[in-house]
Amino acid sequence: MYIGIMSGTSLDGIDLVAADFDDQSARTHHQTMYPFPESLKEKLIALSQGAPVTLEEIGTIDHFLGKTYASAVNQFLAETGLRAESITAIGCHGQTVFHQPSGPMPFTMQLGDANIIAALTGITTVTDFRRKDMALGGQGAPLVPAFHRYLFGENNKTRVVLNIGGIANISIMTPNQPVIGYDTGPGNMLMDSWVLQHQNTPYDQDGKWAASGTVDQALLTQMLTDNYFAQTAPKSTGRERFHQGWLTQQLTQFGQEIAPEDVQATLLTFTATSIANELSNDDAGELLVCGGGAKNSTLMKALQHALPSWQVMTTDAKGVDGDSMEALAFAWLARQALKGEPGNLPEVTGASRLCRLGAIYYPD
Ligand SMILES: Nc1ncnc2c1ncn2[C@@H]1O[C@H](COP(=O)(O)OP(=O)(O)O)[C@@H](O)[C@H]1O
Ligand SMILES: [Mg+2]
Repeated sequence: MYIGIMSGTSLDGIDLVAADFDDQSARTHHQTMYPFPESLKEKLIALSQGAPVTLEEIGTIDHFLGKTYASAVNQFLAETGLRAESITAIGCHGQTVFHQPSGPMPFTMQLGDANIIAALTGITTVTDFRRKDMALGGQGAPLVPAFHRYLFGENNKTRVVLNIGGIANISIMTPNQPVIGYDTGPGNMLMDSWVLQHQNTPYDQDGKWAASGTVDQALLTQMLTDNYFAQTAPKSTGRERFHQGWLTQQLTQFGQEIAPEDVQATLLTFTATSIANELSNDDAGELLVCGGGAKNSTLMKALQHALPSWQVMTTDAKGVDGDSMEALAFAWLARQALKGEPGNLPEVTGASRLCRLGAIYYPD
């Protein structure tokens, strides 16, 4: 059995899953989510938006996150009755605080000291999954497509797995063709940021507030001119780009008064459109949605509306809980690491070759 730990760009909390795998499928035994301590969340948001920070502060967060992940695992074990000895390894993504995959000095940083996780849980821990792929010229992201292919790749028509976290990413699996996968752009992040600012709630439940507004087509068109969308894959993005400052800048540039709920409606359609633009209605298949955005029924409707020929459904309909998909992927990547097998897809990340991913930390 493996444990996967994921905390993504939404900073909503830590997803944990305990699962085992055979050569074709994953079997989830337990899953849960523990919310982030609010003070930690604030620090991480500031850090990922480029706030000045000292080495000491980075060290403190690395340590604090390591402890937070470790106690999450220990609480998970206590609640589920699983014993540490029954877990082969933990795959922990860590918390991304910086991701700059292009340019002369590509660099990505996930915090959460795995020495602490291994020491405090007594379980071998695999982390730092992205940098080997980057060392080979890849984006180090997205890493989930290899797992999506493992789960859903065997099929006679096109299947796309769409994960809508803070950022959204897709894995396009067409029979007899290499997998295509990249970040499409913002997922829930801008909507979360706007609803927090105006309604003082961390997310727009079911997209109800967005549904109460009207999409501003001109603002939508302007936002879609961000040059991230014109870039060709491989590409990946994060909070460094699509943060609250990006939205403020867009609204300033737009210049006209616009009601807050109309901004929210526009942001929701912006997410749906930037995803739908990557898929063709001529080559329609199944669109399997996971991540927190799959629970936003207004967003799901907007996707189906933009992609009328596609069968839009959640991954749950295919037997994989969309809330734990990413944690499951990192549990699987830990298994790949321990088995000495590759975890990346060079055609997705742009790395020069397949490689083993992750650094292994032992508890003893
Ligand atoms: N019922 C819901 N209605 C609307 N949005 C939701 C709902 N549940 C979760 N979300 C959205 O999903 C986000 C969390 O998604 P998640 O997949 O955990 O992202 P990440 O991997 O970036 O942490 C929340 O911040 C929220 O925007
Ligand atoms: Mg999350």
